[in-house]
This record gives sequence, C-alpha cells and structure tokens, in this order.
Amino acid sequence: MATQAVTPLQSGALGAPKHVAIIMDGNGRWATKNNVSRSKGHRKGADAVREAIEGAIESGVSYLTLYAFSSENWNRPAEEVSDLMGLLRMYLKKEVRTLSKEGVNLRVIGRREALGKDIQDMIEGAEEKTKNNSRLTLIIALSYGSRDEIVNAAKTIAQSVIDGKQSIDTIDETSVEQALFTHGIPDPDLIIRTSGEQRLSNFLLWQAAYAEFLFLPILWPDFSRLTFASAVEDYLSRDRRFGARS
Ligand code: IPE
Ligand code: IPE
Ligand code: MG
Repeated sequence: MATQAVTPLQSGALGAPKHVAIIMDGNGRWATKNNVSRSKGHRKGADAVREAIEGAIESGVSYLTLYAFSSENWNRPAEEVSDLMGLLRMYLKKEVRTLSKEGVNLRVIGRREALGKDIQDMIEGAEEKTKNNSRLTLIIALSYGSRDEIVNAAKTIAQSVIDGKQSIDTIDETSVEQALFTHGIPDPDLIIRTSGEQRLSNFLLWQAAYAEFLFLPILWPDFSRLTFASAVEDYLSRDRRFGARS
C-alpha cells in the first residue's frame, strides 16, 4: 500500500524540540522568599542561564531563546534597570569566551539601539566572534517587545513597496517573517515560563502561533538542567496537530 507523505507540519510523533524559548521570570519573588535583595535575585537568575544553555545542548535543541529584558522593563525603577544592565555587561564580558568554545552562536533580538553604546559594541563583538558556530544558536531578547517588532516589520515592508522592491500582492507570511528580528530562526516549538505566571508579556506573538506552552511554578533562579530535561520530556508527550487531524 502506498504510504502518504507526511509533511513535518502534520507530524504528530515528536522529536526533540528544535527551538525552545524561555520567559525567565521570578527573580524578584525568589529574592523575597530567600530574604535577599532583588539585585541578588537577578544575579542568581543570571547564573541559571548557564543551566538553560547546558540543558539545551544536552537535549539536542538547536535554538534557545531567552527573554532577558522586555521593552516594558524600562518602566522599572532606575536602580533596578541599572542593576540589570550591569549584569548584562558582566555576562557579556565573562561568558562570550565560554559560549564561543562551546560552539554557541549568539544572536540578540530587540531594540538594541536603546541599550548603552558599550553594550551594543559588546553584542556586536560577540555576534561576530560566534557567527560560525552551529552547535546551538542562543538568542537573547533584550529591550524586546513583540508588538514593537511587528510594527518595525510593517515599516520595513511598507518601505520596500515604496522603493519598488516588491508589490502589495507579493506580501505574504514569508515576507513578514523576513522582516522580523527573528528572521531565519524557526518558530519556537516550546515556550516555557517560570514563576507560575501564565502570560506571554509581549514575547514572540507572531512566532508562537503553534508553540506548545509550559508554565512552571518554579522561580527562575531555581531553574536547572534537570528542569530543562523534564520540560522536553513533557513536550515529547504532546500531540501537535497544526489544525490537521491526528
Ligand atoms: C525576571 O524576574 C527578570 C526580569 C523581568 C528582568 P522579575 O524581576 O520579573 O521577578 P518577579 O516577577 O518580580 O518575581
Ligand atoms: C517578562 O517578565 C519579561 C522577562 C522575563 C524579561 P515580567 O516580570 O516583566 O512580566 P510581567 O510584568 O509579570 O507581565
Ligand atoms: Mg516578573
């Protein structure tokens, strides 16, 4: 009997997720729970990033996106914003060599022009240094907001029509995808949010169209490689249908 070809989009049996995205939430509550400063909570949160990277590599994930700072996080008190920027500087200074040795390709999405010039330079240097790596693509969302990303994409497309590079009729999902910060990156298969909140907070709205969601009660600083492995296990038990019949 002839077997019918199954397109990847219709496959119900799942392999390891190709792209996992994480909303790293709960540093503040972790600090309160442990009776330490918020700033210490953020520092512990930065340590958990290593766990996520190692978990992703061990699980054979190809793309890991981490939501580190949202467009809306600029509205936090100046002292906290400056703490977070300080941590980011430290992270970029300390970790890029390790990432590079591990075969990680670093990419940053978001409105990077809102970040300090020194941070922008460090990001550019890190992207350049790791651009030929292919074991894992680590995407850090910084000053990132999905609506902002979509508005930006609309402007890029409108401009290309004005410039005569394409006509309105040729605008399709691929042209939108190409105008997003995430161009070339496959959509996330699994989106994890820690801290018990069950919302997207302006993260990957377009890209999450068919993502599986996992909301975990643990606070981000407590996230470990084992948490990552069990999240992947949970994902493997799901039945993804993409609108078709399973
Ligand atoms: C996540 O932890 C870090 C960022 C959003 C930058 P929070 O600081 O949001 O921690 P909670 O939600 O107050 O516990
Ligand atoms: C989402 O967390 C943003 C990041 C994890 C970077 P928030 O703590 O900012 O989200 P809300 O305010 O609870 O929705
Ligand atoms: Mg939060």
